[in-house]
Amino acid sequence: MGIVYHESSRTFHLYNDTISYVMVILKNSHLGQLYYGKRIRDREDFSYFLETSPRPMTARVFEDDDTFSLEHIRQEYPVFGTTDFRQPAVEVCQENGSRLSDFRYQSCRIEGGKPKLPGLPATYTENEGEAETLTITLKDPLTGVRVELFYTIFAEGGVLTRSVGFRNEGGETVRLTRAMSLSLDLPDRDYVWQQLSGCWARECHIHSRRLEPGIQAVGSMRGNSSHEHNPFLVLRRPHADERQGEVIGLSLIYSGNFRIQAEVDAHDTLRIMAGIDPETFTWKLEAGESFQTPEAVLVYTDKGMNHMSQTFHKLYQRRLARGYWRDRTRPILNNNWEATYFDFTEERLLELAAKAKECGVELFVLDDGWFGRRSSDHAGLGDWQANLERLPNGITGLAERMEELGLKFGLWFEPEMVNKDSDFYRQHPDWILAAPGRSQSQGRHQCVLDFSRQEVVEAVYEQMAKILKEAKLSYIKWDMNRSITECFSKGWPADRQGEVYHRYILGVYALYERLTSEFPHVLFESCASGGGRFDPGMLYYAPQGWLSDDSDAVERLKIQYGASMCYPVSSMGAHVSVTPNHQVYRNTPLHTRANVACFGTFGYELDLNKLSKEETREVKDQIAFMKKYRHILQFGTFYRLNSPFEGNEAAWMAVSEDKKTAIVGWYRILNDVNGRYMRLRLEGLCPEYAYRNRNSGLIHYGDELMYAGLITTDDTAGQVSEEAHSTDFESRIYVLEADGSTAK
Ligand code: DGJ
Repeated sequence: MGIVYHESSRTFHLYNDTISYVMVILKNSHLGQLYYGKRIRDREDFSYFLETSPRPMTARVFEDDDTFSLEHIRQEYPVFGTTDFRQPAVEVCQENGSRLSDFRYQSCRIEGGKPKLPGLPATYTENEGEAETLTITLKDPLTGVRVELFYTIFAEGGVLTRSVGFRNEGGETVRLTRAMSLSLDLPDRDYVWQQLSGCWARECHIHSRRLEPGIQAVGSMRGNSSHEHNPFLVLRRPHADERQGEVIGLSLIYSGNFRIQAEVDAHDTLRIMAGIDPETFTWKLEAGESFQTPEAVLVYTDKGMNHMSQTFHKLYQRRLARGYWRDRTRPILNNNWEATYFDFTEERLLELAAKAKECGVELFVLDDGWFGRRSSDHAGLGDWQANLERLPNGITGLAERMEELGLKFGLWFEPEMVNKDSDFYRQHPDWILAAPGRSQSQGRHQCVLDFSRQEVVEAVYEQMAKILKEAKLSYIKWDMNRSITECFSKGWPADRQGEVYHRYILGVYALYERLTSEFPHVLFESCASGGGRFDPGMLYYAPQGWLSDDSDAVERLKIQYGASMCYPVSSMGAHVSVTPNHQVYRNTPLHTRANVACFGTFGYELDLNKLSKEETREVKDQIAFMKKYRHILQFGTFYRLNSPFEGNEAAWMAVSEDKKTAIVGWYRILNDVNGRYMRLRLEGLCPEYAYRNRNSGLIHYGDELMYAGLITTDDTAGQVSEEAHSTDFESRIYVLEADGSTAK
């Protein structure tokens, strides 16, 4: 890995074993993009990559040079309003109303490791050898605004991160009206754009299309990253697939309003951009003030989409998630939400917990409804003290009883929200986001607290920290159940209202940071009505997130499969719930529900007391299986094999680091009769190892399993039998184990 600056040609080359990223200081002192892709040899001068030809009808930067127009030059951080008519990465509004700027190269700095981003989640290094960071300083001579472009290249994998720092070193106040984290111009548009989109209970569905001239974008203006679009994008070459081909993944480490877009111009040049949504953002920079954008992560590979995903998984597991739980397998939990909703007493919870313990569950989670006067979603949010009518011994007493049962105990909070029917709101009616003189929209009968204000965050912290100090809590589920509307803060003046969305998220991050550092052993799970904020920003604080409120096994196949494009299995909250399922009313077999959830942070979202004896036995077996293999399921190398978006069968697998154990999940949506012979070509095994198939007892070499395939043909194929072997929504888990020997 290295970062070189070639003084003579004024080019920068960042490279590791996988990628090269080449930039040049242009004739107008802006920064140009020369190459991004598979590693190429370093050389003194790459300037032939800069393609300029005199084109008619272009506006030139220099009177005497008809080849130099920003319209046709690939750039690193394009500005607004000069000779480039594509969307800019930055806009700085000045006192006279001008939004023009001219960021010229000043200097560069190369250092080992990676500096922290103040107040923002970001990838990190544990020692200097893991990455190198290049900081390029540009300055606008007229306003004195300084821009620092941060590029970090990691030694391992095709990972490059980017973010931007601003500092107003001039005398006048300016306003940033656009400050993207990343802008990257690529020479062609021969890509398939692939996004993760959906809505509540249908998150992370994969949608693809070829890039066409014009702008295509995903984003959020809801205050949270949103169920609708994940801050993630794949650009793959049309012939690339899971196993091979060139793929670029782009992920934004941010939980608020964002935009990721691709703009294809008339000459098929492609501009990718990612950052805070410019529509809902302005930031005032007085003389001497600074602003830091969130971080964007680029992953390049020529080994297909699985490899791109594995690179993200590893990076986000080990160098984005932090703390005690980062590398630890996750406790198997029982959450009471779908078992009781708001209808519970201490006694009822203890009954649930006792049964959970008997089945092998390790953590009992008390969801919504334990506090204030919360008997429905109309009241109580903001009053984070136990409801003593329901829980006469308080949270402390309940936690003690859980401990006596031999269970860890966790609690649900929705720290950013308040019901008008709460003591907290009655004491602080001014602490919500609401615009003076305007009506206020409703969302689940609750208002959004103004987390852009420190005193509000402080007051919520006090309440949460008190419980965490008093009661023995091992886990917190941090929920967020409505989007932001009428985003106006009484804590900020008129000319800073454009900052409120971003300041809100900074407040959320600050509270997370404080609580996770003060209570390092508590496992945090993020949630926003399921996956409304399932993003890398949250992963920095909470190593797992409740991926979706849809707990149906069939629905979950698509959601988990889609999410795996970027997010590791260890980050995906996945539970077995009751049938008929509460979201889609579907009946799926208990084993299928578990077979899907075990590729996640496994748990149960039902009343285990209601299961039959046989079902209880099955649950005990599922838990025993999970305990034995969760380190591989959650932290092994994950491969997508068959897409649930493309057919009746889905499959994925996880392989241990030493390749001696592989666990394959195979799922069929609808049953068929007299069906075809089925084989599943596996991935990531050692070709020479002899693997014992725990299901059949047969032994197969790794090469057979990868190249000929695992035979998954159903017992009923081609026969009529009196006994049902399989039904709709059938699934199987195959465990393949090798002892490392290569002989049969
Ligand atoms: C939405 C979450 O996604 C659910 O799991 C549950 O915690 C409810 N909120 C509680 O109100």
